[in-house]
Formats: sequence, structure tokens, C-alpha cells
Amino acid sequence: MSTPRIAVYPGSFDPITRGHEDLVRRSLAFVDRVVIAVAGNSAKAPRVTVDERVALIRQAVAHPAVEVQSFEGLLVDFARRVGASVLVRGLRAVSDFEYEFQMALMNRNLAPQLETVFLVPAFDLTYLSSSLVREVARYGGDVASLVHPAVLEALKRKYRR
Ligand code: PNS
Repeated sequence: MSTPRIAVYPGSFDPITRGHEDLVRRSLAFVDRVVIAVAGNSAKAPRVTVDERVALIRQAVAHPAVEVQSFEGLLVDFARRVGASVLVRGLRAVSDFEYEFQMALMNRNLAPQLETVFLVPAFDLTYLSSSLVREVARYGGDVASLVHPAVLEALKRKYRR
């Protein structure tokens, strides 16, 4: 039996959107398991706790080949612990590229055997980002088509006015 191919899909997921869900589905086309890695020490100072983000992702992506874990410290150390050979990141626009390229090269420097793979989201999800979803939700806009219903409820609770 061959060793299962495991991908880590890291991020802040503040909150998880339909765009993230799309990338998880796309990843399952070329790996056996996806571990969604929720950064506890994200530079973006997330608005909800890491445990809440993990719980929402588990509801949004209920799939036997997908697990959700939080991590602290370096992503490459987490990837090594879970036995991943691939890091998945999404690329939506040219503006993503520089940051993603830097991160991929630094991660390769730290863990040469770990390959970063960039995936392009579905066309109609390309404009989507967690920060835009948060902003629209904060001012009472409709984000129902952009997030899982559990995430929508959490946003409503959070930004109830
Ligand atoms: O969704 P995000 O916020 O763009 O994800 C960024 C994330 C969490 C993947 C990145 O900040 C990260 O990997 N953090 C863990 C610490 C680490 O390994 N930093 C060095 C990356 S080169």
C-alpha cells in the first residue's frame, strides 16, 4: 500500500468562505487527505478565537478526508508533524502573488521536501476574501451566498446591531 499523500491548507480562516471550501475540494483531486491548519498566531490579529474558527470550518467542510487543526509556531513544523508533503495556497489576483511567493520560498528554505502548490479558485469566487466578508457583514450586508450557513449565523451573532 502506498503512503497517503497529505496536504496542509493553512490560513487564518477569519472566517472560512466559499472560496476556501472550493480550494479544499480542488485539493482532494490530487491528495488523499487535507489538513486545514488554522493559525493561532496569525499576523492578521483574527476577530474570533482559533477554537471558534476551527468549529466553523468543521461545520462548513464536513468530509471524511478533511480534518481541521489549529497550530502555533511555524507552519513547516506543523506540516512535518502531520506528515504532509504539500502545502496548498490559493492565488486569486496578482496582488496576492508577492506575499505568496515570499512565503513559498521561505517555507522551502525551511523545509525543502515540502512543496507549495497554488490553486486558482472558481471564477465566481475569485473576488472573495474573508476581510471583505467581515466588512460587508459588519454593516449588515448580505453574505449568505459567500459563506456556509453556520458561518453566516456566527457573523450575525458577532455583528448584531
Ligand atoms: O490566511 P493567511 O492569514 O494569509 O495565512 C497566513 C499563514 C497563517 C499561512 C502564515 O502567516 C503562516 O504560515 N503562519 C505561521 C507562521 C509561519 O510559519 N510563518 C512563516 C511563513 S513563511
